[in-house]
Amino acid sequence: KKIFLALIVICTVSLLLHHGGHFTNMEAFRFGCSHQYPGSKPKHTNIVFLKTHKTASTTMQNILFRFAERNNLMVALPVQACGHQFCYPRSFSSHFVHLHTLRPNLITNHMRFNKTALQRLMPNDTLYITILREPASMFESLFTYYSRHCMSFRRVPNGSLEAFLAEPFRYYRPQEVESMYARNTLTFDLGGDKDHPSKDLAYAQNFVAEVEKVFSLVMISEYFDESLILLRHLLSWDLEDILYVKLNMRTESSKKRLSPGLPEKIRAWNSIDTYLYEYFNASFWLKLSDLGLDCVAKEVQLLRQVQEKLMRSCFGGKMPLPRPAAEIKNKDLRPWQPSDKVDIVGYDLPVNISHEAQEHCLKYIMPEISYTRILLHSQSLRHRRSYQNR
Ligand SMILES: *[C@@H]1O[C@H](CO)[C@@H](O)[C@H](O)[C@H]1NC(C)=O
Ligand SMILES: *[C@@H]1O[C@H](CO)[C@@H](O)[C@H](O)[C@H]1NC(C)=O
Ligand SMILES: *[C@@H]1O[C@H](CO)[C@@H](O)[C@H](O)[C@H]1NC(C)=O
Ligand SMILES: *[C@@H]1O[C@H](CO)[C@@H](O)[C@H](O)[C@H]1NC(C)=O
Ligand SMILES: *[C@@H]1O[C@H](CO)[C@@H](O)[C@H](O)[C@H]1NC(C)=O
Repeated sequence: KKIFLALIVICTVSLLLHHGGHFTNMEAFRFGCSHQYPGSKPKHTNIVFLKTHKTASTTMQNILFRFAERNNLMVALPVQACGHQFCYPRSFSSHFVHLHTLRPNLITNHMRFNKTALQRLMPNDTLYITILREPASMFESLFTYYSRHCMSFRRVPNGSLEAFLAEPFRYYRPQEVESMYARNTLTFDLGGDKDHPSKDLAYAQNFVAEVEKVFSLVMISEYFDESLILLRHLLSWDLEDILYVKLNMRTESSKKRLSPGLPEKIRAWNSIDTYLYEYFNASFWLKLSDLGLDCVAKEVQLLRQVQEKLMRSCFGGKMPLPRPAAEIKNKDLRPWQPSDKVDIVGYDLPVNISHEAQEHCLKYIMPEISYTRILLHSQSLRHRRSYQNR
């Protein structure tokens, strides 16, 4: 065994020398934090990604969709009656899964988490992953994004976040259909009680302990790239598996600066989410230190370099400029617009790049509703073919 290891080291060193330091990023990446040699472990393919709201989860979903397509995996998708989500905000049930997508490897569309139902649906070696965002910036995002849909926000005079937070109970109705966007949204998505009294700290503590038992990785939006490095180590994935283009973003003009004092009010109003976030941000940083902050930084840098190359090859030598939906020619590439007050930007591909580049690049910038539809179509075809062959 020692001789074998020595051989690997010699090969590695000679590979480095051979390339004279100009070895490709892909190879460099494998020598990043990894204490394992390439290919020493198969990539993990069975994953539940609980997609939370306004947390960069759409970008993560896109990463998973592309991974599934490249590896011929089955993604559980919602039945038509559920829309592109699993009948959110109802608690997840296997009845929401399209029959053509059963025996899935992955599930990522929006849902309200139900551990029992998911464990019955998914393979027994499934890893559970989710993502959290700092509650103050998240709430500002929810408030703007759902200003038309969520009655608790619509009631507020002048659409003023300050007015809402001054007297939240004047506008908030816990029983209303869309009320989960107005309080402890992360807790709700994870299956918890968004309206549990905040003075009962034991509830938050128990809830966090439950989440920690089920989820192998809780990503943090503020440190998205670092989260992807932890993800790739957890799943034995390569650099190419975590490349992305940012999706479902607002224009800068749709974002509001929080006035002084507001972040504290938001965190008090969303106290269970705040408890969750602080706990998992702390454990996230412990995981990063376990891996080694230096090599995490190195892998992040490599990821960004390769990403930039990808963007240049996809967008005709230039970095892409996010555009308002109305200016995007390909209808499939227009992201959903929640209201006339918020501009969700997307991308178009230049018409003059090669056909191959079109194929390759299109999926990186495909909004979730289009991608869900396309994936359902291709998986249904696959399902019918395998049914006929039986
Ligand atoms: C979760 O799913 C299980 C199994 O399908 C079901 O019995 C249970 O009622 C669900 N929980 C909720 C809160 O709906
Ligand atoms: C998981 O499922 C496989 C095949 O379905 C089975 O062989 C294995 O024993 C199961 N493992 C556990 C821990 O239940
Ligand atoms: C709403 O805006 C109007 C006009 O700008 C202002 O007069 C009014 O006081 C505002 N109301 C609240 C509750 O902020
Ligand atoms: C997350 O935790 C780290 C390490 O303790 C801390 O430096 C950072 O400020 C926290 N991030 C946020 C957004 O609270
Ligand atoms: C495509 O057109 C743009 C200008 O519209 C130009 O800058 C770019 O070089 C062209 N790319 C290719 C591959 O021809």
